Amino acid sequence: MRKNTIPALIALIALLPFTANSIGSISTTPGEIDQDFMTDVEDTSINLSDNVAQHFAEPAVNNAKELIDAFTQVEQFYVARSDAEDAVELARKSRELSQKIIQQVDSKDFDSASASATALSRACKECHNFYKKS
Ligand code: HEC
Repeated sequence: MRKNTIPALIALIALLPFTANSIGSISTTPGEIDQDFMTDVEDTSINLSDNVAQHFAEPAVNNAKELIDAFTQVEQFYVARSDAEDAVELARKSRELSQKIIQQVDSKDFDSASASATALSRACKECHNFYKKS
C-alpha cells in the first residue's frame, strides 16, 4: 500500500457530502401535518445549511429541490384546508427561498445562499408559532 493511501482515504471520507434523504409524501390525515414528513424536512434543511456552508454545490441543490417538493405539498395541504392563509403564505415563501438558494448556489454565491437558508429557518419557526400545537 502506498503511504499516501490512508490519509487520502480519510480525506475522502471527511469530504463526503451530506447525502440527500428522500422526503416522502405528506400525510393525508385530515387537519394535521405528518410528523415524520416534517422530521425529514428538518433533516434536509440541516443538510442544506451544512452543504451550503461547505460549498458542496450539487448536494445543496439536491436538498433544495427536495424542500421545494416538500413545501409544494405543504402549500397544497394548507390551500385545501382553506382556513390557513398565513401557512399557505409561509409554505410559499419557504418554497421560493429554496428556489433562490438553487440560483445562488448555481452562481457560486454561497454567502447569499447561506443568508437565504437562515431566512428559511425563520419561516419554519414562524409557521410553527402559529400552526404547530406542541
Ligand atoms: C407552513 C407551515 C410550516 C412550515 C413552513 C414548516 N413547518 Fe414544521 N411543522 C408544521 C406543523 C403544523 C407541525 C406539527 C405537525 C404535527 O405535530 O403533527 C410541524 C412540525 C415540525 C417538526 C416536529 C415533528 C415532530 O416529530 O413532532 C419539525 C422538526 C419541523 N416541523 C421542522 C420544520 C423545518 C426545519 C421547517 C423549515 C425548513 C419547517 N418545519 C417548516 C408546519 C410547518
